[in-house]
Amino acid sequence: MDLRTPPPDLYGRPRADTFFRFLTAFGDRYSPALGGPLLRRSPRRPFSRPTPALQLVVTARRRAAADVVELTLADPSGGPLPPWQPGAHLRLALPSGRERHYSLCGDPADTAAYRIAVRRLPAGGGGSVEIHDTLHPGTRLTARRPRNGFAFCTEPAVLLLAGGIGITPLLPMVHEARRHGLDWHLVHTGRSAGTLPFADELRALDPHRVHLRTDDEHGGPPTGAELLAHAPRGAAVYCCGPAPMLAAVQRALDGSPAASLHFERFGAAPITDGEPFAVRLGADGPVLDVPADRSALDVLREARPDLAYSCHQGFCGTCEVRLLAGTADHRDRRLTAEQRAAGALLPCVSRAAAGETLVLDVPGASDRPRP
Ligand code: FES
Repeated sequence: MDLRTPPPDLYGRPRADTFFRFLTAFGDRYSPALGGPLLRRSPRRPFSRPTPALQLVVTARRRAAADVVELTLADPSGGPLPPWQPGAHLRLALPSGRERHYSLCGDPADTAAYRIAVRRLPAGGGGSVEIHDTLHPGTRLTARRPRNGFAFCTEPAVLLLAGGIGITPLLPMVHEARRHGLDWHLVHTGRSAGTLPFADELRALDPHRVHLRTDDEHGGPPTGAELLAHAPRGAAVYCCGPAPMLAAVQRALDGSPAASLHFERFGAAPITDGEPFAVRLGADGPVLDVPADRSALDVLREARPDLAYSCHQGFCGTCEVRLLAGTADHRDRRLTAEQRAAGALLPCVSRAAAGETLVLDVPGASDRPRP
């Protein structure tokens, strides 16, 4: 990757260059005075435009740490796979129909295979258990093309902070940083040495720049200041891990040598500004209360346990339901204004004002007996 080139957008497209942005702004500013538009913007491309599914086959499987399995996926015909950049993730359709997102942890230069690593979470939604129990070499899968919401910009100084399985999007960034000769450091944290995926691979890279830090050796998890103490002055920090780790790093950033923070979290963000509201399942269905500190998706899944979901963060679209009545506070990063106006709603993050009732058409609701 050229260090002066901005990272591609979420579709993997190169970003518009500075001259074109200037030309567009000029056209927007002065075209009315010249009697008509000089430059027209393309209509906004819907975020969820359909793309053909990738056909993949599991070609290798190995244990990357306690409860972590690494899978290698390839095109069944041996052809090259679509390109990707560090930070990208793959949306996999599992044999059960579940959809899950996993960061790509291999080498972007390898177009023959994708690598993902998955920690088994027995109390999760079933996706990780299905992968551990049923995916073996030869298993066929489908996936969407890789997308990137956590792009790596190759600033001259970089600190990478990984919590447990959060190492997966950061591993390709380590390789990218080394390729470009950046001043980089990686801190990888976890409960114990046996729970750190890729620990041997990391240790072998550069023992002076890789810092493995375990709770059992230090009497508990690290503070934000402790993690950021490894930052070169002016570093960009890339962090992926559990919510408490991200919160600790965010709190400590101002007093650290680091200059900026980019992060990717596991699962849902804590709800800090929610109001209690209600959802109704269909026009004449039951009304369910959504407390201020819970998501509508969590409440809906108590009544409809098979309601699909994946990211819990409003970017994958898996949990989409239809809003039949009520005023929603859309908080997702996926739906266009047109899709929202047509009634699409992502209940994993979207909410409503206090006391509002959202009437929802939930997939499968009409097939079920009403209480
Ligand atoms: S679960 Fe991904 S958008 Fe709701």
